Amino acid sequence: MKKEELFEVYKSKVLATYGKTPLVFVKGKGSYLWDMHNNKYLDFFPGWGVCNVGHCNSFVMSAVRDQISKLVFIPNNYYNMPQAKLAKEIIYWSFPSKAFFCNSGAEANEAAIKFSRVFGQGNRHEIITFENSFHGRTFGALSATGQEKYKRPFKPLLEGFKTIKFNDIDAVKKAITDNTVAIILELVQGEGGVNIAEKSFVQDLRKICDEKNILLIFDEVQTGMGRTGEMFCYKNYQVVPDVMTLAKSIAGGLPMGVMLVKDSIADIFTKGMHASTFGGGPVVCKAALGVFKAISKEKMLHNVKIQGKYLFEKLLEFKKKYPIIKEIRSLGLMVGIELNCPGEKIVQACLKNKLLINCTHENVLRLMPALNITQSQIKSAIRVLNKAFEENL
Ligand SMILES: Cc1ncc(COP(=O)(O)O)c(C=O)c1O
Repeated sequence: MKKEELFEVYKSKVLATYGKTPLVFVKGKGSYLWDMHNNKYLDFFPGWGVCNVGHCNSFVMSAVRDQISKLVFIPNNYYNMPQAKLAKEIIYWSFPSKAFFCNSGAEANEAAIKFSRVFGQGNRHEIITFENSFHGRTFGALSATGQEKYKRPFKPLLEGFKTIKFNDIDAVKKAITDNTVAIILELVQGEGGVNIAEKSFVQDLRKICDEKNILLIFDEVQTGMGRTGEMFCYKNYQVVPDVMTLAKSIAGGLPMGVMLVKDSIADIFTKGMHASTFGGGPVVCKAALGVFKAISKEKMLHNVKIQGKYLFEKLLEFKKKYPIIKEIRSLGLMVGIELNCPGEKIVQACLKNKLLINCTHENVLRLMPALNITQSQIKSAIRVLNKAFEENL
């Protein structure tokens, strides 16, 4: 199929719910993508946060190949060896807990919302969420999301969510009522513009939740799996959540979501209360085991810290040079460059020079390169970004 014909098929036969860049990628390896004309791109936003271990990571590929030749799927009414191994692995890296497997970030958050309802025992059901948060597109997850633009066409949404200012502990104290059962947040808000939670804020949240028997839920769909230099972002805060949700990069490009619930309360979710047909199938679980292996064997957490610092320092030099940059925010390799104008023209200028980046919240350039990015690849990206800023001064 020729490119023009493919675009025509999309136009006439695929719902246009996504903004699209007119590129057709056919191959990926590490931090590079190749389009159908064999043009090579440096990908600084691999898979929208899905390909943390790079495109087609060999640990993931070989795990998938191995499993796919044996058994592709087995439903959850049977035992499944890769799922058990993965549960052990996730818990080894996080906190004493039990896992529920599903297929996406929204689904993992949906599970967390349902879990909160059970925890509230019919007496409490209100959940506190934060402005500029993003938790997914299903009704529960969307109701939790603190951005009107995503919610407007779908009202009425699920009731029982109170959205308040991020990093404002007084606002939290004011919002809590006898009906409050949970607080959900991203430690670094991704879609909302790479806004980093303050350490004291998160620690205070933990204290309040303990005092009032409120669930503290961390949505680590975007921040998890090494992105911030720790396997899970909460480790940067020395605060352990009651519930954590994961998705995006956990299975290296295959669809997976996970809700993790701390041991002492996990068993309130009982047989028949929740399910997901595809959740935790053997192929995706093997892929996720490959992701953990890749992160360990390729020493990616260390690399994130080193390269994250290097990238941040380079970007600070940009800030001095280009007044259109308002602020640089970063934790590990999750980086936001806030501009005082829309960022799309910078994205397009980078694209012309074969560098893929993202712009979120209109004016925040988002860089989330693979965790095994090299210094020379960062230098290449910096060169292109420099040119893009110069051209758009
Ligand atoms: C923090 C966060 N939570 C949840 C989601 C939703 O995940 P999914 O698109 O897999 O449903 C996203 C997606 O961007 C996210 O960034």
